[in-house]
Amino acid sequence: MQVKSFEEYKEAWRKSVEQPEQFWEEIAGNFQWRKKWDKVLEWNFKEPRVEWFKGAKLNITENCLDRHLEKNGDVPAIIWEPNDPTEDHRVLTYRQLHDKVCQFANVLKNNGAKKGDRICIYMPMVPELAIAVLACARIGAIHSVVFGGFSAQSIADRIKDAECNIVITADGSFRGTKEVPLKSVIDDALVQCPSIKRVIVLTRSHTPVSMIKGRDVWWEDEVKKVETQGNPECPVEEMDAEDMLFILYTSGSTGKPKGVVHTCGGYMVYTGYTFSNAFQYKPGEVYFCTADIGWITGHSYIVYGPLSQGATTLMFEGIPTWPNAGRFWDIVEKYKVNILYTAPTAIRSLMSFGDDVIAGKDLSSLTKLGSVGEPINEEAWHWFDEKIGHGNCPIVDTWWQTETGGFMISPIAGVTPTKPGYATLPLPGVQPILVDENGKEIEGNGVNGNLCIKFPWPGMLRTTYGDHERCRQTYFATYENLYFTGDGCLRDEDGYYRITGRVDDVLNVSGHRIGTAEVENAINMHSTVVESAVVGYPHDIKGQGVYAFVVSPGKHGDEEITRKDIIMTVSRIIGPIAKPDKIQFVSGLPKTRSGKIMRRILRKIAEGDTSNLGDTSTLLDPAVVDEIKAGAL
Ligand code: WT7
Repeated sequence: MQVKSFEEYKEAWRKSVEQPEQFWEEIAGNFQWRKKWDKVLEWNFKEPRVEWFKGAKLNITENCLDRHLEKNGDVPAIIWEPNDPTEDHRVLTYRQLHDKVCQFANVLKNNGAKKGDRICIYMPMVPELAIAVLACARIGAIHSVVFGGFSAQSIADRIKDAECNIVITADGSFRGTKEVPLKSVIDDALVQCPSIKRVIVLTRSHTPVSMIKGRDVWWEDEVKKVETQGNPECPVEEMDAEDMLFILYTSGSTGKPKGVVHTCGGYMVYTGYTFSNAFQYKPGEVYFCTADIGWITGHSYIVYGPLSQGATTLMFEGIPTWPNAGRFWDIVEKYKVNILYTAPTAIRSLMSFGDDVIAGKDLSSLTKLGSVGEPINEEAWHWFDEKIGHGNCPIVDTWWQTETGGFMISPIAGVTPTKPGYATLPLPGVQPILVDENGKEIEGNGVNGNLCIKFPWPGMLRTTYGDHERCRQTYFATYENLYFTGDGCLRDEDGYYRITGRVDDVLNVSGHRIGTAEVENAINMHSTVVESAVVGYPHDIKGQGVYAFVVSPGKHGDEEITRKDIIMTVSRIIGPIAKPDKIQFVSGLPKTRSGKIMRRILRKIAEGDTSNLGDTSTLLDPAVVDEIKAGAL
């Protein structure tokens, strides 16, 4: 599955375009199937309907676990580094991970879980999170992992949308010096969720929790029951290639997050192939992805991709800046990490602490570096290259999305010549195209346009849970016969791709996707708020910050208190990750005569660029712009 030279890359890409079915059939041959497919691909982007490896039977955990046991059972599958560096780390070999997944899969079955059920997972970054995910996949239950930074309300919305019947959580999680009471957040969420019949609670932080009789059980007790039943194996559920594997919620330009659906066969092939190829993974290498499993990066490139390739994947529970800003480098040194995959926001944050925190750290084990989540600025790229890679580690800047399942445009380590700030070229199997507003293809090089994909790939989303029409509207209706990514993109003179950022109302804050409409809804729930408009602005560390313009008389006219109350409201409704960085109180928002908010003007003001606000003649009340300009933060 790995191309070994730039010539081979070009040849593979050409073949993947000319004979896509043959290309993917060959790749799929590297995986273990219970039954081979009747047809490689059926598709039309109109409905949309995309089916890969139709008729094939498999279980992804057989590929991630069982098939490695005979030769590589003793190879470390997961290395786990705890939040507190003085606590013992853990290593799970493939055999141990297999056994724990089987055990927990049996726990799930004992608790009534069956194929097709939706199970919500809200857990800290501990090996049991990966075990829970894989155990769901083993029995054919559909997992919906919710990132630990989301609020009770967000969890409730996701549980209700997917009609989950089981929650897997922990008493609490450690993040630096903070303790997050996960079970207590779940309890708040479940007040709204009668569909939940069982809550399985892992002990991690020993935070006091309430355990409701008949509903809540401890992970450890349930595992003991399975042990005394003396039935350590759990045969895999045979899944159809197009059966759902998981749902992962992501923000868009409307107020309500979408449940992106991935299926078993295509997702397995795509994540395994892209992981192996882009990182040129070699057996024995230690691979460290700093993401959280609550995001797609963790699903595809901590759990499924690496494990299907028999890799050693390192999971880190804590944060990059605790006990100090050298934590990543300590981990690299401690485990002799070979491949480090992180995000521009983390790089910029660590850069800001200066070179002292790297001095004396042995980073010589590193051979390959990766970046994901947002466009990487050149300064961060060079710092990563020089200070961390010592100039001899290729940087793979991987462009992809929750919806794409895996890397789309990305260098292949050591194969594709890189360029700072560029995701470079499409991987073999990926057909990008740039279009103008009308969907007309922009050909040639040295051009800018909206990034679309014109041919299916196995890892693509199949639907948005419970609302297929929304999937069509969002991704397949903007331009005919194309998947629209929502990103703007430059193709330079060499045909290299550089993502320029979202062209819709979606912000990218520290690599997290946040819909402006969602934040506005949350702000508007605050009792004194009349209306609001949220835009992004350049933020040194986060990439983008959240800037809110708010019309509110305030609590007894006290701006400071109202500002804090609004932040608290957003935290409650969405979660701390969506908190506005800046709140400017205004007497009105710039609107057209038809009542549309002119975001373009607000964006300019938030960016601090008020020299040319463009045409304001269509505004209902142009004077409001001067007031907002004068009060800009
Ligand atoms: C959006 C997808 C894919 C995992 C993490 C985020 C931006 C992602 C890059 C990159 C420039 C990037 C895009 C994309 N993005 N990677 N290497 N260069 N931009 O997943 O939450 O689904 O967000 O993140 O704007 O559309 P996500």
